[in-house]
Amino acid sequence: MGAELADRRSLVREKGVTSTSGSSDETVVKFDPIESVRTPIFLSSDDDRGFELASTLDLESKDIQSAPIDDWYLGCKRDELALCHSSEDPLVISEHSVRTKIDEARDTHLARACMARPGRVVLDAFGGWGIDGLTLSALGCEVTILEVNPLVCAMARYLAQELGCAAKFVCADAERYLQDTDEVFDVVYFDPMFPVHPKSAKPARRMQILELLARKDTDIGQVFELAKNRTRDRIVVKRRRTENARGLVPDWNVSGRTVRFDVYQTR
Ligand SMILES: C[S@@+](CC[C@H](N)C(=O)[O-])C[C@H]1O[C@@H](n2cnc3c(N)ncnc32)[C@H](O)[C@@H]1O
Repeated sequence: MGAELADRRSLVREKGVTSTSGSSDETVVKFDPIESVRTPIFLSSDDDRGFELASTLDLESKDIQSAPIDDWYLGCKRDELALCHSSEDPLVISEHSVRTKIDEARDTHLARACMARPGRVVLDAFGGWGIDGLTLSALGCEVTILEVNPLVCAMARYLAQELGCAAKFVCADAERYLQDTDEVFDVVYFDPMFPVHPKSAKPARRMQILELLARKDTDIGQVFELAKNRTRDRIVVKRRRTENARGLVPDWNVSGRTVRFDVYQTR
């Protein structure tokens, strides 16, 4: 991840994005929307659909021969954007595998906890595959989705495109984004990775791969503190139903069979 971050920083510098503050040996750079940080997609020269995806998603196309060995990368499989690996089956998140979830979003616990309605301005600070953020978007919320991993963020952007959901994606660290932004949101939504639970059933493959790629060292308490100043109405944190809120006592919650949405009023 260190090298990847260094690459991304140098890419941002190349694009001339404003620097904020400096430490002794490096400039700390404001994370810019993914649009200016071009994540590579590895393609063979005759992959027309792959090049079309590279263009619509503003990805940098690279020769398949230079694809990483033993690491995940973006490619094109069965005409869809895919996460590929030299020794694993590719992962495609098809539009119809999440369509039902999004179509049935209205009466969900997520919608209730966020009080989702048209025009509500929401920051999904831990975007992942974007499914929760896109669900809120389908209910009319104006959603900004943050995701720190560029591969995951690209897959989420592709999913949004396929579903026809209008959401803004930013490939950024939530902590840094909240420090830098002037925006204020009605709701800031948190769905950080749950701690591993020894008794849980093996999750779906897309969640197993997310577990591998996701950032896990984020200081949630710190992001929560920063979010308070940028939230007009409420912060909503998704947790396992039985998880301890570790000192962050919510005002109320919406609890389901396996997960719970803790709601913290900020006004
Ligand atoms: C549990 S997943 C979110 C799943 C998502 N709600 C969905 O519906 O697909 C948590 C995500 O947060 C991301 N993440 C962790 N720390 C982050 C940070 N500091 N800034 C932005 N994203 C972060 C991880 O990379 C991971 O993809």
